[in-house]
Amino acid sequence: MADKELHRGLDGIAVAETRLSGIDGAAGELVIGGFPVEELAGNASYEESVFLLFDDRLPTEPELESFRAELAGYREIPEEVEQVLRRAAREDRDAMDALRMGVAAADLGLDATDPTEVATRLVSVLPTIVATYWRCRSGREPVRPRADLGHAANYLWMLTGDEPDPAAVRGLETYLNTVVDHGLNASTFVARSVVSTESDLVSAVTGAVGSLKGPLHGGAPGPVLEMLLAVHETGDAEGYVRETLASGERLMGFGHRVYRTRDPRAAVLSRAAERFYADSDERAFFETVEAFEEVAVALLSEHKPDRALETNVEFYTAALLHGVGIPRELFTATFAVSRVGGWTAHCLEQRADNKLIRPVSVYVGDRDRSWKPANER
Ligand code: ACO
Repeated sequence: MADKELHRGLDGIAVAETRLSGIDGAAGELVIGGFPVEELAGNASYEESVFLLFDDRLPTEPELESFRAELAGYREIPEEVEQVLRRAAREDRDAMDALRMGVAAADLGLDATDPTEVATRLVSVLPTIVATYWRCRSGREPVRPRADLGHAANYLWMLTGDEPDPAAVRGLETYLNTVVDHGLNASTFVARSVVSTESDLVSAVTGAVGSLKGPLHGGAPGPVLEMLLAVHETGDAEGYVRETLASGERLMGFGHRVYRTRDPRAAVLSRAAERFYADSDERAFFETVEAFEEVAVALLSEHKPDRALETNVEFYTAALLHGVGIPRELFTATFAVSRVGGWTAHCLEQRADNKLIRPVSVYVGDRDRSWKPANER
């Protein structure tokens, strides 16, 4: 039918109003809860970012204390969820599969009358699910959450069982704030679509986890790190990029649906990584990362002169998360640990002024087939 205009991938189509975050893809600007990402990321704690998204303002000191305590109070996961995660680890399931199973199994008070409480519980429990899976996956016992630690520090604690290093906590916290929300990206769209049917937030976050897993969305930083480690060993960034592009593959960590400039989050994370690596033994690795970016952007512009393919958030995510000690198998799951703040805030926003999300499709199939019984086909 030619009566509907086709927008493949909903490219450029606005389907919701939001006060949570805004992107100017041409200028390369991102605002989160009214703050330029550069202003928020390095200053806020993750708890402050989530409060900002839920309440559209920063908390006062007592409000922050009480929100921290509330989040810390929901960190434990029930025994049944731990069993699901132990099984996922035994069966060598990917971290995002384990996260999906863990979220789906975690009955977080689906029928709670206060959706903000369910949202808060989801934000609180995702790090415990990821860390429990990871401890089992690496043959160790889970480490119980500690209520005296902030959200980012407790995540590192549950992963390692070691007292978290303040520089690593700051690096991770900057990362969590930087990626907490980003307009109507694929996983956030999924979350909003689910609650637009008046379904619940746990279902929405379960669906969003599935959407984030793919390499065109949140699945890129693991491969980015492998690429960077390989190039750090050979020293041949140009050869790597040329070979990748010649074989028709995409260079992970570059290109974006909305930005036609360097992703502003890449700038924030590159500065955070630079600070982190300055005092680390792996300074030389960070030099490789920066040199690789320069070569890659130059060769991508030769490869696709008509399409600005610049560095996206995943490139420096890989460098920063590697530095702060997150295993590469958990990069995408750690993205979810942050983005659940945005997903749930969008769910609350959608619920507050709901309109069922229901796009249309253009039918291009046959119209005049006539039925034949199976034995006559
Ligand atoms: N390397 C090489 N070529 C690329 C890249 C890349 N990273 N990105 C896009 N292109 C090419 C495509 O092959 C395509 O070429 P064609 O027109 O000859 O077919 C052209 O540029 C346009 O690409 P599209 O896929 O139409 O662009 P879209 O806006 O849909 O894709 C995306 C954006 C998915 C991020 C893409 O740039 C990509 O695949 N990048 C690599 C994966 C990645 O880094 N993902 C993380 C994204 S950030 C995030 O989600 C948090």
